[in-house]
Amino acid sequence: MSAEGVDLKKRRTLTLATSAVGAVGAGFIIYPFLAAWAPSEKAKAAGAPVEADISKLEPGQMMSVKWRGKPVWIVHRTQQNLDDLVTLEGTLLDPASDDTAQQPDYCKNPNRSIKPEYLVAVGICTHLGCSPTYRPDVAPADLGAEWKGGFFCPCHGSRFDLAARVYSGVPAPKNMEIPPHQYLSDTRILIGQDGGEA
Ligand code: FES
Repeated sequence: MSAEGVDLKKRRTLTLATSAVGAVGAGFIIYPFLAAWAPSEKAKAAGAPVEADISKLEPGQMMSVKWRGKPVWIVHRTQQNLDDLVTLEGTLLDPASDDTAQQPDYCKNPNRSIKPEYLVAVGICTHLGCSPTYRPDVAPADLGAEWKGGFFCPCHGSRFDLAARVYSGVPAPKNMEIPPHQYLSDTRILIGQDGGEA
């Protein structure tokens, strides 16, 4: 190989080495940007509001988003669900949501919601903190003929209706919590903030 050929080979090797260092360098450059995102994730876990897109949530369906490390359920109730809620009052522990710690004032109403068709609730049982199961089916064999749809806690059998109100005679002592929230549009809900009060 000529001296020129060796030089050329060396130069190529050097170029490759430089590119490799450049790539590693880029890795280090990217890191601070990623690190800069960390506080916002932390803030989220600590309580920053989260947005939920409900545009694809059909009547009868439920979706879940995470807020402050907890599941927040959004249920699109049907008209039948809303009609059934009215019939359950005599079987519930706190049908009128008199325990004001369990919902913001604007959700102290028969549906415990801003818009009747959407329930927004923290999906944690008020007994010992399990996450109940969504059971929209009416009169299933395991829950009985009176069941109109709601939430069933598998840990110790607490039952809640589709407004997250607890039934009488179960271990859970309170209705499930309704978090502060607001509608940003017909299809977007901001959970964790209700106009500055959250
Ligand atoms: S934690 Fe739900 S019934 Fe005990």
